[in-house]
Amino acid sequence: MFKVGVIGCGNMGEAIVRGLTKSKNVKSTDIIVSDVDPDKVELMVEKYNVAGTSSNRRVVENSGIIFLAVKPKDFIKTVKPIKEAFTEDKIIISVMAGIKIQRINEEIKGIIVRVMPNTPALIGEGALGVSFEKIDPLKKEQILDLLKSLGTVVEVEEELMDTVTGLSGSGPAYVFMFIEGLIQGGIKGGLSYKQASELAVQTVLGAAKLIKETGEHPSVLRDKVSSPAGTTIYAVHKLEEKGLKDAVISAVEEATKRSRELSE
Ligand SMILES: NC(=O)c1ccc[n+]([C@@H]2O[C@H](COP(=O)([O-])OP(=O)(O)OC[C@H]3O[C@@H](n4cnc5c(N)ncnc54)[C@H](OP(=O)(O)O)[C@@H]3O)[C@@H](O)[C@H]2O)c1
Repeated sequence: MFKVGVIGCGNMGEAIVRGLTKSKNVKSTDIIVSDVDPDKVELMVEKYNVAGTSSNRRVVENSGIIFLAVKPKDFIKTVKPIKEAFTEDKIIISVMAGIKIQRINEEIKGIIVRVMPNTPALIGEGALGVSFEKIDPLKKEQILDLLKSLGTVVEVEEELMDTVTGLSGSGPAYVFMFIEGLIQGGIKGGLSYKQASELAVQTVLGAAKLIKETGEHPSVLRDKVSSPAGTTIYAVHKLEEKGLKDAVISAVEEATKRSRELSE
């Protein structure tokens, strides 16, 4: 019997296996993975020393916790042929965007946990929204511990999952665009791409860490770097004038709306 099974060895499936094997929570020999593509399974077996199979049924029958990491469009075709393997005691962690807990439970039995990760989960630095239905508190702690190997985990009501998608699910793209802007600004000012990129990436990383470690509101930290008549307050004024915050709020709102449309 394996502890954890992962169905789907794509980007997210690999992120999950990578995160779990790096953490102390699960040994690689406690994990079994499957995919329709045998090459992907083989790669995971070689890279992470996990067990691999082409049979989703084998994964479900032999694991207590099963991650469903296939695309939402492949959900039905993945679970329907092995429906009876999903028994009441199984914990199913779905990372499939837009598929509600109730919809999953209409197809299969088990305790369903819904997670919205993002791509930094690939390096254990993800931001994950998680929703539970009724679940034993001990089991819940066990799941939260497991998910923490992929990054920071925030529990939310399921109806807020679309907002989580709009903020952290799609969020890395907004941050990449901001970093790109910083780099281009640096290049415009005469720095090389390498110089500008190193400075830009560390600026975003450092600023994010500063918020996390001090617990201060971002506006407080912003005011601390804005000295009277200094460079920063001039830049902050320009960003307000150009509507940076307004654009970001609208981006989160639009992505949330689109997530809702897609899940309907
Ligand atoms: N990537 C992200 O940033 C991200 C963020 C949040 C949530 N998610 C969610 O994570 C899930 C996976 O996304 P992804 O980006 O990892 O997709 P992906 O790279 O396409 O991985 C899915 C894998 O599942 C395989 N597969 C398809 N049908 C299968 C079946 N019946 N049995 C076993 N394996 C099957 C696919 O094979 P084929 O390629 O041959 O079809 C592919 O290897 C999605 O539901 C998505 O909504 C992803």
